[in-house]
Amino acid sequence: MGTEEWTVVLARSGRKKRGFQKMIIPPKMLEPAKPWAPENSENDPERELKLMGKMHTYVESLQSSQFYQAFMDQIQRSEMSDLIGKVLVSEEKMSMVVYGIGSIESYEPPRLQLGLAILMKKNLSWIGDVEVFDPVISSVESKVLSAFGFSVLSINEEGQRQASKPTFFFMPHCEAVLYNNLLRANWEVNRLNQIVLLGNSFNGYEQVVSTSMLSVREETHGHIFAVRSFTKEFPVNTVSDDYFRAFHTSSWHFFNVESDADLQLLKL
Ligand SMILES: C[S@@+](CC[C@H](N)C(=O)[O-])C[C@H]1O[C@@H](n2cnc3c(N)ncnc32)[C@H](O)[C@@H]1O
Repeated sequence: MGTEEWTVVLARSGRKKRGFQKMIIPPKMLEPAKPWAPENSENDPERELKLMGKMHTYVESLQSSQFYQAFMDQIQRSEMSDLIGKVLVSEEKMSMVVYGIGSIESYEPPRLQLGLAILMKKNLSWIGDVEVFDPVISSVESKVLSAFGFSVLSINEEGQRQASKPTFFFMPHCEAVLYNNLLRANWEVNRLNQIVLLGNSFNGYEQVVSTSMLSVREETHGHIFAVRSFTKEFPVNTVSDDYFRAFHTSSWHFFNVESDADLQLLKL
């Protein structure tokens, strides 16, 4: 769907009422992708080495945790592994795109999230090349990400990567607008069905909205609500307090759109 078309989305039907009604919103141009580079490009081998060492420690402790065991068990259960197989069709691997990891040097949740990405890449045979982007990534962090075999994008895509092949998006605790941009850029049967998304729970957004804690704007949430009828969601179990901050309200999402007709309500 072109971004210049008007869109019908599901929006809250009243301040206090649960549920959604169709409403028409004017088109909003998506932010264009733009070139990006870390602000400070100076080398600092000492900081890089320190951060590498820290990341190795995080990966080791994550790998032996009950959280990771439960995470892997969930992926290997037939309901989820069948859905992953359905996205792959005949491909052996899908690319992985990590948006919004945050600063791994400054905060623990991003280190745990990166640790999980490293372990998924290492232990899940269906994950291919990994690309990472967050505008806050520093030059030191970029070098460490590269050392783990991840490519740091030199373009800020604003979350709008189009899935022309099976693609796994890991978007830990991103803002709603980034999920919305991703869905909007992929609002076609063949694209949505090629996406696996691990990020904030879409069910969670509905619950928050229905308790009036969030004011919903169509351009930031419209496609998140509209896709829910085609979405199968599997919540991640944080297991213990140690993993709560990094993975709370995170879910796997799979989209099953049967035909273009399913998306017709979003076209005028
Ligand atoms: C709420 S923070 C989450 C950070 C981290 N994952 C965590 O859980 O603490 C959202 C992150 O999205 C990043 N972000 C903002 N715009 C982005 C974009 N266009 N592409 C990728 N990441 C973006 C922000 O810089 C920020 O680090």
